[in-house]
Formats: sequence, C-alpha cells, structure tokens
Amino acid sequence: MQMIPHSRPTIDHEEVAAVTAVLESGQLDQGEQVLDFEQSLASLIGVGGAVAVSSGTAALHLSLLALEIGEGDEVVIPSFVCPALLNAIRYVRAVPVLADIDRETFNIDVRDLKRRVTRKTKAVIVPHMFGLPADIREIVAFGVPVIEDCAQALRSSYEGAPSGSFGALSVFSFYATKVICTGEGGMVAANNRQLLDRIRDLRDYDEKADDRLRYNYKLTDLQAALGLAQLRKLPALIGRRRALARQYDEFLRENLLPAPACPPDRDHIYYRYVIRTKQVAELLAAGGEAGIAYRRPVFKPLHHYLGITGYPQTEAAFIETVSLPIYPSLHDEEIKTILQHAQPFLMR
Ligand SMILES: Cc1ncc(COP(=O)(O)O)c(C=O)c1O
Repeated sequence: MQMIPHSRPTIDHEEVAAVTAVLESGQLDQGEQVLDFEQSLASLIGVGGAVAVSSGTAALHLSLLALEIGEGDEVVIPSFVCPALLNAIRYVRAVPVLADIDRETFNIDVRDLKRRVTRKTKAVIVPHMFGLPADIREIVAFGVPVIEDCAQALRSSYEGAPSGSFGALSVFSFYATKVICTGEGGMVAANNRQLLDRIRDLRDYDEKADDRLRYNYKLTDLQAALGLAQLRKLPALIGRRRALARQYDEFLRENLLPAPACPPDRDHIYYRYVIRTKQVAELLAAGGEAGIAYRRPVFKPLHHYLGITGYPQTEAAFIETVSLPIYPSLHDEEIKTILQHAQPFLMR
C-alpha cells in the first residue's frame, strides 16, 4: 500500500552538498554557518538580529529568561497549541495562563486574551497557528511584551510585514517537519540588541567569567548549512504549499464546504491545512486503513492537560478539526487520494 505521511521534509542534492561540505571542512560545531544562518533569517524577517538555538522550545525558554520572567509571573498563551509553550513557561517557574481561540482562524482570541491580562502578566506568547498570522497588531498594542511564535509561520505576513517583526522577540523552529528544517533547531529574532545579547550569552556555558545558570542550546554548523540550503528555497517551498492549498480550497468550494479562513490583510503559508468534520475519529480511522495520515492539528488542548474548563472555542476546534497532509513534495495525485477518502466525513 502506498502511504501518504502527514509531513515530509523537502531535501535534495543541494542540502546533501551543503551538509557534505561542512562534514569535509571538519568544522562541525557552532561557527560561520550558524552566523550566516542567523543573519539570513534576521534579514528575511526584517529585524536587527537573530540567535540560533537547538530547538523552538529552547528559543522560547531563552526568550522568557531574556525578558527576566520568573517565579510567580504570569504568561498568557492560547490553549490550542502544543505543550512546548507550557513547558517553557514552567522552566522559568512562571504561571501559564490560558486564553481561548478565535473560532474561524484558530489563533488566540484578542478579547479573551484581554480578559486574562492582569498586573502579574509579564508576557504573551502569540503563536501564528498553522501558518496564518494572529491579530498581532492589536495584541502588541496592549503594551505587554509579546513573544511571537513563528514555529509554524515562517515568512507569513500581516499587512505586508513578516510575522516575527512585530513582537519584542520572535521564535522559530526548524524541527524536521517544519517549513524549513535542520532536523532539530530554532532561532530567536529581535530588534533589541540587549535581549539578543542575553540570549547569546545563555545558550552557551563555556568560558564565562561569572557563575550563573547557562545552557547548552547551541545549533551546529552541520544543521545551519542544512538550514541555509532550505532558506534559499523558501519562496518555492511556500509557493508549492499555497498551490496545494488552492487545490484543497477548490474541492471544498465545489462541495459547498468552508475553506480555512484567511483575513484579507494576511498571507497564509499553509503549514497545516485544517478542515472541519463532525466525524474526526472516523476520518482518522479511515485514513489509517487507506494509508493516509490525517491528524488532529493539535494533539490535545492545553486546558485538558491542566484539567480546567472555560475554553469553548478551543474545545470546538479540538472536537471538529482534522489536518490534511500538505507539504511541498506532495503530488497532485496524492491530493486527489486524500480528498477522495476524506469526502464522506466532511461536514455538510
Ligand atoms: C507553535 C509552536 N511553538 C513551538 C514549538 C516547539 O518547537 P520545537 O519542537 O523545535 O521545540 C512548536 C513545535 O512543534 C510549535 O508548533
């Protein structure tokens, strides 16, 4: 049986050549390639600088530390996201405060977020979910420091400006299935030199004059060479994602079903293509039998882990959404197979 995985990296001879060249150079650890990767990402996002780290989670952790967030401070995040955000907040002993999401966009709901902000709120982490920018301008206007989480939204944009150029800091992930990959990897980007210097200091423990808690969160030149090769292809990678999304959109329109929302002031990069169905379990099971990896877009909402209630839109999204495979190497024929098996379970 031909399997269609949910995600697949797009790697060809250019990545192989770039990584091979680093292997042959003998300089494998953090060096020139990492520096180049940092500068390339910062200029792509249009910010002053960037610091490469070993994962998106490490990027979140060091961002919270750079903002001097610690014990008892509150950090607001949406409930409909992976536990990496929750973990990073707990690493610094801060208190996670969950907000509900917008029903249409699956991004953090601005009004609910506003209700959850208190005197103790020291930051908001705003993920741009599934490749669609959140209401970032409105959120930044609250005046609370914003960490933009661009793990799923590299080079998406809001009013023409790249995601990651609005917050005090922005974080990226280059995990194997992300928009561009380095296997594992991450980055923090910002305009503020002081914040970037703190992060650069904290990611590496060696040869420091003073005694403080530091980490080994470095990226290697091997990974950065892979990342740079991927970054050169980014316009093509995103172009293919959008072309695939148009095929899905067209199918949904023909069947009088709603396509994923994208407000006119934003550019979606379709990291995930999320549809609604009243038969999530049935669709996942049918995919299993047909060799197609349909998935829940979020494995489990964070309020379920915390055992709390009060997140009706997150709950609805959890109960009635499925993520269809979407990645640049997906063939048009595979799209047809994915839709053919999904069609009986789509909401009418
Ligand atoms: C929105 C979001 N933030 C952060 C992360 C964490 O990134 P990493 O897996 O590189 O630690 C992910 C990873 O899937 C993510 O989707």
